[in-house]
Order: sequence, then C-alpha cells, then structure tokens
Amino acid sequence: MITDTPARALGPLLHEGKAKRLYATADPQWCAVEFKDVATAANGRRQVQLPGKGGLNCRISGRLFTLLEQAGLPTHFREPLGDGWMLVRPLRMIPLEVVLRNRAAGSLLRQLPIVAGQPLEPPLLDLYFKDDALGDPFLSEARLATLNIVTPEARVQLETMARQVNSTLHQALARLDLDLVDLKLEFGWDASGQLRLADELSPDNCRLWDGRQSPDSPGRSLDKDRFRQGLGGLVAAYKEVNHRIQALDHLQPRSHDPGQGIQ
Ligand code: TMP
Repeated sequence: MITDTPARALGPLLHEGKAKRLYATADPQWCAVEFKDVATAANGRRQVQLPGKGGLNCRISGRLFTLLEQAGLPTHFREPLGDGWMLVRPLRMIPLEVVLRNRAAGSLLRQLPIVAGQPLEPPLLDLYFKDDALGDPFLSEARLATLNIVTPEARVQLETMARQVNSTLHQALARLDLDLVDLKLEFGWDASGQLRLADELSPDNCRLWDGRQSPDSPGRSLDKDRFRQGLGGLVAAYKEVNHRIQALDHLQPRSHDPGQGIQ
C-alpha cells in the first residue's frame, strides 16, 4: 500500500523486497524507493509493523549516501521525495551481500571462537550470495568463481569501494558516539558502467553501538538487534540515530584524522 505518494508520477512497481518497494517514474533515468514501516528477521519469517520506521530509515540513508557522495564514493541516491521515499538511479544489481565487520558480533560469534566486540583490524570482509530462497549463503573463493557473478577485476573494485564506504562511515559515525560494528552493502552498475553503492544505509543493515551507554547496557544497540533480540524500543533507537546523524551537517572534517575519507 502506498501511504505517502511522492510528488512525482509513479510508474509500475519494479521490485518488492522485505523492507522496500522500487517503482519506475515518468523519467526512465530515475526510480522511486518506498521504505516500508516493517521490521523483519529470520529471512522474513518474523515480521512486525512499526509506524515511523520507514521514514527514519529513509532519512538516515539519504544523509549517509550524501556523506559518501561528498567523499567521492558513487551511490544510487539522488534526493529525498516525500516522507519515506527517495529518488534513486536505476542500477543493474550485483547479487552479492558484502558484509564488513569492524568488531565481532552477530553470526560471527556463532561461527568462530571469537570474543564479542573484539576489534577486527583490518575489517573482515565476507561475500554472501543474495538469494532469499537459499538463505543468502556464505561464498567461499571457489563458490564465487563457480557462480561467475563478477570478474576478478570487478571484484577488486567492489571490495575496494566497500572498504572505503566502511572506513568513511566508521569515522563519521564515531564522531557522533556511534560505533559502527558491522554493515551489509549492496552494489550495482549504472547505465554508463559506473559501480555504485545501492540499497540502504540504515540501522536495519548495520550494527551501531551507542558510545554514550556502558558496554553491558541493553540500551547500547541502536539497530535491528533490538528486534532480533526482542529488546523493544526499535523506533526510539532509530530516532536517536537520525537525531545524531543530522549533526553531521555541522561537523567540519577533521584534517588530522588518520585515514579520513578515501584511502
Ligand atoms: P550477521 O552478523 O547476521 O551476519 O550480520 C552482519 C551485518 O549484516 C549486520 O550489520 C546485519 C547485516 N545483515 C543485513 O543487513 N541483512 C541480512 O540479511 C543479514 C544476514 C545481515
């Protein structure tokens, strides 16, 4: 259901995912994304309606895509539309989920003998095959080569950009007392063959720990772990992230930050 129609004519629905819908617009150069007011977990098997969540994820994503564009990293984002809507560039999506981990959390703790919160330097980068029916399986080198999803050159380009996105966001968010623990990125090719970051950048697809709370506080997670772990307070946590992220407009780049921006 379209809850808040953007001020532009919508074309047909092109794709519906668990958290977003993608529509054509009257201009073939641009598509419209609607962020749904739903939280999902366990590959969509658990779902709950959370009014206001879509608008928050849209605002947070728009602000972070803009930050990356300013750092010279191409994204699909063009501009916000109505509440919970944004205008994006259509891309030919690469069916990979690129997960970067700055600290050990989540599935890594179930799969490796590693201490929760342990810093990972350099950040750990893993590729997963994006396929809901298969449960987004982890890709080994050999499996990636077997599927032939990206050329070796494109893979280097994609991983380099993913690391640049992670380091740019990690540094910017740290200044807001938000610890970027891990995140999932998706990429696609635009009509001119440019690789661009796609999907969303929100607490749905990253872990953010609040540096203003003690490490053992249940209030520390400001991300979808609040839903996954049944902690409650998800919309309040996303509002706090959105509130802090607006301060990015007033922060000047720190010239002495080692590794600031693109490496
Ligand atoms: P994981 O610890 O469950 O593997 O998740 C790592 C990061 O990737 C975490 O920030 C959540 C994000 N993620 C998604 O956005 N979508 C997914 O389907 C999964 C499995 C993880």
